Amino acid sequence: MRGKLVAGNWKSNGDLVANRRLLEQVRASAASMHGVEAAVCVPYPYLAQAQQILGDSSVVWGGQDVSHFGAGAYTGAVTSTMLTDFGCKYAIVGHSERRAVFGDSDALVAAKFDAARKAGLTPILCVGESLQERESGVTETVVGRQLDAIMAVSGVAALARAVVAYEPVWAIGTGKTATPAQAQAVHAFIRNRIAALDAAVAAGLQILYGGSVKAANAVELFSQADIDGGLIGGASLVADEFMAICRAAVPRA
Ligand code: 13P
Repeated sequence: MRGKLVAGNWKSNGDLVANRRLLEQVRASAASMHGVEAAVCVPYPYLAQAQQILGDSSVVWGGQDVSHFGAGAYTGAVTSTMLTDFGCKYAIVGHSERRAVFGDSDALVAAKFDAARKAGLTPILCVGESLQERESGVTETVVGRQLDAIMAVSGVAALARAVVAYEPVWAIGTGKTATPAQAQAVHAFIRNRIAALDAAVAAGLQILYGGSVKAANAVELFSQADIDGGLIGGASLVADEFMAICRAAVPRA
């Protein structure tokens, strides 16, 4: 049975003082929570702080991107092994902000995914369509292409140790959440596309939903058959809200 995962993506937010408060609150609150994994993906400079505060807790942490290069003359790049050095479990790859603002192509995202998994990180692969793509009826074409790019490089078996996050671009930071039915439809599409190649990998794959998730809409989203948790932006910066979202993912008896 697939477990639930709720991962915070802090994006470019935080400072040492605010992070400490947030991480300590998340850590304390997660101690009494069972049946869901809580993760925080923090900016690189704060990985050491996350490791120090969360080190002996149930909360895990990760980076928000990773270089596709190994060590070498790549000024500014952070390698996968640097992330594992700081205890990261996860690395987000292919977030729509990376794709749109920094120009990460499908091929580059696939190379980052491959570098991350080879270093023992669990990549959180983000996929999702823009508003224009949804309105043009090409959501499945876009998401399928983004998934296929990964499988072409790493193979379908690599998804056995990865997470996929469906994040419709039009729902990110807009307050406009996909309806549970809209999200479920794309999640089922993702699982079916992978199942066509490997049914066991598809059945075990955690597929998160991201885009304006709040405590108020999380229960309904997370109760969909193919939604295994969430990737949370803005709401992950507020400890009470983030932990309420995590609790919404706790399996009901
Ligand atoms: P919001 O939750 O702020 O919409 O961001 C979602 C996201 O991009 C998570 O990666």
